[in-house]
Amino acid sequence: MKTRLVVLISGNGSNLQAILDACKSGELDAVVVSVISNKADAYGLVRAKNAGVDAIHFAKLENETRQEYDTRLADYASACLPDFIILAGWMRILTFAFLNHFPNRVINIHPALPNTFPGTHAIERAYEAHQRGEITQTGVMIHLVPDEGVDDGPLLATQEINFIQNESLEDFESRVHQVEHELLVNTLKKIIKEKQ
Ligand code: GAR
Repeated sequence: MKTRLVVLISGNGSNLQAILDACKSGELDAVVVSVISNKADAYGLVRAKNAGVDAIHFAKLENETRQEYDTRLADYASACLPDFIILAGWMRILTFAFLNHFPNRVINIHPALPNTFPGTHAIERAYEAHQRGEITQTGVMIHLVPDEGVDDGPLLATQEINFIQNESLEDFESRVHQVEHELLVNTLKKIIKEKQ
């Protein structure tokens, strides 16, 4: 049986695309059963629809608390019977109201090394730190999400990335994304094999 993935996104969805492509080519023995975005205009929703995958803008209701939203989100995701939930550019902290439903099954990708640049704009912040001479390398990490910590949890994979002299932010960003896409697919491949 194919491994069932629910992918949570907030934006462009290039990591989602890497997963969709790897599922289609058979590189991943998995199927994306649902794509959920907290943003209405996330381009990842278009990518999902283009791939024929169920996709939804899961909007926060007026006056809804974070716990209530996360409970509703967990109910929606549970109904998809996922083996794993992948946070592929999901830019919203998940509380235990969600996480308790999927112990050891929520996986996050973050474009920085462990304990560096948590939160948003990690790539830009690493680039700027390098410009100031503070760091010589950055990287990408993939980890389990056990709690409400931001971009923190048991590591599944890391990949270091060296800076290149005089590289533009744009070129650096696309190099980081390329590393992300490969590392994400390879890590999922490993996890899926271990599960089988
Ligand atoms: C990716 O770089 C991902 O690692 C990052 O958001 C980007 C989403 O790009 N996630 C975080 O920063 C989590 N804190 P994408 O929508 O093109 O996959």
